[in-house]
Amino acid sequence: MIKDKILVIGASGQIGVELTLALRKLYGNANVVASDLREENDLLKGSGPYVSLDVMNKEMLHVQVIRQNFTQIYLLAAILSATGEKNPNLAWSLNMQSLLNVLDIAREEKLYKVYWPSSIAVFGPTSPKENCPQQTIIEPTTVYGISKYAGEFWCNYFHQRFGVDVRSMRYPGLISYKSSPGGGTTDYAVEIFHEALEEKKYTCFLKPETYLPMMYMPDAIRGTIELMEAPADKISIRTSYNFSAMSFSPADIGNEIKKYIPEFSLMHNPDYRQAIADSWPKSIDDSIAQNDWGWKPEYDLQRMTKDMLNNLPAGRQV
Ligand code: NAD
Ligand code: SER
Repeated sequence: MIKDKILVIGASGQIGVELTLALRKLYGNANVVASDLREENDLLKGSGPYVSLDVMNKEMLHVQVIRQNFTQIYLLAAILSATGEKNPNLAWSLNMQSLLNVLDIAREEKLYKVYWPSSIAVFGPTSPKENCPQQTIIEPTTVYGISKYAGEFWCNYFHQRFGVDVRSMRYPGLISYKSSPGGGTTDYAVEIFHEALEEKKYTCFLKPETYLPMMYMPDAIRGTIELMEAPADKISIRTSYNFSAMSFSPADIGNEIKKYIPEFSLMHNPDYRQAIADSWPKSIDDSIAQNDWGWKPEYDLQRMTKDMLNNLPAGRQV
């Protein structure tokens, strides 16, 4: 029986906070070390160990892995789609080099498992818009999407060539009330809740009918852990799994919020992120994840909206 010790890189981010807390429940607080370039997120404080770490510094990362006997790494550090378009070189450099550093160390130190998320951003304008399949035309147009698609093939390469058990899924836009999103095109679906509760109005940077694949954070965290806990012989995709829960537009989520906050007013002022959203599929076919390791989401738009409004600090019992 392997005694796992886990390093979460990018633990102060939108996913990192909740994933770290979930992993600590499963593996024990002391066995899950949170790390980030920025300071420890308040929600993590007191729940377990934290180290300040730059994933680009391979030597320091390697030293940590050896010193602390890590058996698994969850690599969440990245620059997301919208921020990536503002600084393409930095996005390419961080998104690629962080993954190569982790995969190299995983190979050298024979780590038990590695997790690295890809994104629906791998798909581009030539991919099918509805129920986009796992294998299809993939021609991403953002630097973020290009880095994620290249990363998927690095994962596959390290698995095939060196036997590294690296697992991945293409997250849709993630919606959460605990930690804030970090520069993605789907961030509007979090901002809208905060603004609806605090200002009763929100100006969305996407057009009303822009449908995108989305998922509530509890589903994303549970799915990530289910993928990582699945027996290796159940994992048929070694690039990155399509992973899906719901699909909605700004108009849909606005109408759902209005059921609880009737005075809420939604306006639109599309910016450069509209072109990014338009290049992505509206919905995703994740039947391979369903068949391989039993993936099934629990939250739809209605259930998620109620839960978000109930849990945000400015929220109310709805
Ligand atoms: P985020 O921006 O909220 O968090 C990323 C964290 O990485 C930040 O806390 C940041 O400080 C840290 N970081 C940046 N550079 C670092 C470095 N050099 N060393 C160490 N840490 C560094 O991002 P997130 O939304 O939590 O995303 C996590 C992963 O999931 C990313 O790979 C992202 O591409 C992927 N993903 C996220 C979404 C989403 O909707 N949030 C969707 C698809 C894929
Ligand atoms: N939520 C992410 C983004 O918008 C998708 O990878 O960048």
